[in-house]
Amino acid sequence: MTNPRSTALPDAATLDQRFPAVAPERWTLDPGCTFLNHGSFGATPRSVLERQQDLRAEMERNPLRFLLDAAPPLIERSRGVVAGLIGADPSDVVFVRNATAGVNAVLRSLHFEPGDEVLYLSHAYNACANVVRFVAERWGAKAVEVELPWPIDDPAQATEAVLSAVTGRTKLAMLDHVTSVSGLVLPIADMVAGLKARGVETLVDAAHAPGMLPIDMQQIGAAYYTANCHKWLCAPKTAAFLYVRPDMQDGIEPELISHGSNHYGKGKGDLQMRFHWLGTSDPTPVICIADAVAVLESLLPGGLDALMHRNHAMAVGLRRVVCDAWGIQPPCPESMLGSMATLPLFVGRPRWDDSDAAEKQNALMHRVQQSLRVEVPIVDIALGGGGPVVIHTRFSCQAYNHGAQVLPFIEAFADVVDPTVFDGPARG
Ligand SMILES: Cc1ncc(COP(=O)(O)O)c(C=O)c1O
Repeated sequence: MTNPRSTALPDAATLDQRFPAVAPERWTLDPGCTFLNHGSFGATPRSVLERQQDLRAEMERNPLRFLLDAAPPLIERSRGVVAGLIGADPSDVVFVRNATAGVNAVLRSLHFEPGDEVLYLSHAYNACANVVRFVAERWGAKAVEVELPWPIDDPAQATEAVLSAVTGRTKLAMLDHVTSVSGLVLPIADMVAGLKARGVETLVDAAHAPGMLPIDMQQIGAAYYTANCHKWLCAPKTAAFLYVRPDMQDGIEPELISHGSNHYGKGKGDLQMRFHWLGTSDPTPVICIADAVAVLESLLPGGLDALMHRNHAMAVGLRRVVCDAWGIQPPCPESMLGSMATLPLFVGRPRWDDSDAAEKQNALMHRVQQSLRVEVPIVDIALGGGGPVVIHTRFSCQAYNHGAQVLPFIEAFADVVDPTVFDGPARG
């Protein structure tokens, strides 16, 4: 059952009135581009970039005094901010360069027996799924892909898919808090609790979650939780963290073994010590996490909570507009949306397929991103059970976005959308 195309597309003024931009002048984005892809790499406010520049200038005036004296308390300030945002003790939070590094640190630290099973989702971020496969192969263990239903009607279906994949050999699950391509907010606390009850610990890849969703580590209960601050918290790039539950910290090593591994000669360092000083690097992205959060807190009277709520409401509202305009069914319920929405376009070919068959999406990508200058990802999702690969696009809603930006987005894909791709009962 397709959704009849609506004739009455709201006009730009109405959309902007419903979803006005919040302080767009605070970002440095190109005004010539309809930028609806905060999700891929984030975007950092101008004042935070200026602060980072100042810090770098200070570092270059005296690198020793900056790196050894000035930076550590500023890094601690950011650690406190992150720990506060996720309801964790700061001593259980360490900084990493990005979520990929966090996933690598955990998985490459763990020991498995031949035949052990490690679960990961069919919607997992490719780089992170690769780490699971690499580590499993090294130990003679099995990387087990859990098929997430797509389209999906209820978050409980995702939990059911994960829990029904557990066997007596399952040792760990790597689960996304928010899936990358499909933008699904998963019921992570339920999943972790269900796995725990079956004796399975969880590594959460939460690359998108901070700044998109409220996070409470006590409630989530995961052994490991890694996330980016350079996405929805708008910190400069290469700012991310790894939380490790206190009882799981032994043996978790950073991706680079450094001085802290022997506590500078004083014996085995604790988690903080082991992740301290991973070779010379630029600490300014991490230092600026605190500044970025302060900016986001200042944008609306209700602070970051109000901003997350606004971004979510905008994603929900604009997805309804798009689905009506294209005459399509939404692929997931609104309760599984954060501040991104992924929509199906047509049956196509896998992303890495460089044959002629992928020409249609390559041409589309070129037209949308280069000619029309609508910045959104165009991605594929393989439907399970031998189903086809379906090409999708995804839009993101951050403070600087305004409702009327959905109009060029709708227009860019209107000719290629196949409203019958996901025929089925009403969803949403
Ligand atoms: C779910 C998920 N995991 C991991 C990543 C990788 O993030 P990074 O490149 O910052 O490591 C992404 C990036 O979009 C993602 O969506």
